[in-house]
Amino acid sequence: MLPPLRTCTLLAALSALPAQSPTTPYDADPAHPANRIFHAIHYAELVPVFIGAALPGEHGDEPDFYVPKWYFQQRGGNEADQALFGGDGRQIPRERFNPSEANALADALRALDDGVVDELRAQPRLAVYLQHDLLRIARRLCDTKANPELLPALLAAAERVALPAATLVGGELTTFRLEQIGPHLHGIEVSELVEIDRRSTRLFDAGFTQLWSKVYLAVPADAAPSTDGLLAAALDAAGATPPNVPVGTTAVLVQGIVALDDAGEARATDLVIDVRTQRLSNLDDLGRDNATTTRDGVDLQQWFLPRLTVATAPGPLGLADFRSVPMATPELFRDYGTLKYTTYAAQCSLCHRRTGTPDGALAGFLALRANAKPQRTDPGTRLRRAEQELAAFIAELRSR
Ligand code: HEC
Repeated sequence: MLPPLRTCTLLAALSALPAQSPTTPYDADPAHPANRIFHAIHYAELVPVFIGAALPGEHGDEPDFYVPKWYFQQRGGNEADQALFGGDGRQIPRERFNPSEANALADALRALDDGVVDELRAQPRLAVYLQHDLLRIARRLCDTKANPELLPALLAAAERVALPAATLVGGELTTFRLEQIGPHLHGIEVSELVEIDRRSTRLFDAGFTQLWSKVYLAVPADAAPSTDGLLAAALDAAGATPPNVPVGTTAVLVQGIVALDDAGEARATDLVIDVRTQRLSNLDDLGRDNATTTRDGVDLQQWFLPRLTVATAPGPLGLADFRSVPMATPELFRDYGTLKYTTYAAQCSLCHRRTGTPDGALAGFLALRANAKPQRTDPGTRLRRAEQELAAFIAELRSR
């Protein structure tokens, strides 16, 4: 998601959008039904519950803001923080619709007539992305227990834009290949990355995210333990001390859309929209001088594929077409249901850090937690599980 529109300069710099006007990524015509749906889902005028101290302007002249727990520092939001939040990003600010907003969304869903649907389905990646937006807001409304009256229309619209299975899994949707992350791995070879399965929490359950997720991991070739040694030690660590993750250890997290095909089956597509890396860069103390994302040695990066890119670049796509998200970017996150406006760096550090956590030896590599039971896996396992998870959510929606 882009920063709120009042931070016009930053918004313009990040997205080259005209300030003050919400983006219309699905079509050049702002009144296109897909844009109207997008707008209804992805923008909300609100006061965040919390404002993170990591935001520019929130920690003032503090000579050294980066002390233990910097990522937790926040204040309550107030009227002056009210803004229009949202954009062509991953986070959805909207939690519910008032009656007129609900009507606007219902109208836009009705406007998805046969002509519009055919036109969308002729751009398969775009149709899949729109379906993903529809299913995500349906999930959100289930979670917030709001607007149950909209759920049947959202599901029906998702079914109308559905594509045949052959299109969804045939390779033409591809937006990312693992080799493309190579230049961002600081010396680790892509061929050294091992895909690992793990017991995920709902953060990575496709019933909640509508995304499949894969985690790859590698320890530097000259470090000990090896990647397999580290996995074995992590798996063994139940009740004991977690293993020490060697400096240079790197993980890649890849997430792609699980779509519904035109026969109603869930399909893990090659439409990757979110790629992240994590690297243990050093074991130095936490502080301003530790120039890592967490300020305690862990570096994180994220790339996101905007809908606008998908709409305007119909040919081959790859990681170079994704938006690289600077870690200082402000964003409205929804932490276990509470809207918090902070930086990516602060948000990622909440969960992935070395200090102030019992699992410090794991350096924030959460897939290595003993209860995650990390182990090598094959390329299909996570995809099939994500399909089952999405199918369960769809069954729940259908039963309403
Ligand atoms: C609310 C906690 C939470 C936040 C916030 C969070 N993550 Fe994660 N992340 C996790 C969990 C849990 C896993 C383990 C995945 C699994 O077990 O399926 C994970 C896994 C990862 C991995 C794979 C390596 C690993 O640690 O297992 C990367 C890379 C990653 N996250 C990047 C990020 C980035 C970048 C951000 C900030 C935009 C972020 N995460 C924010 C919880 C979080």
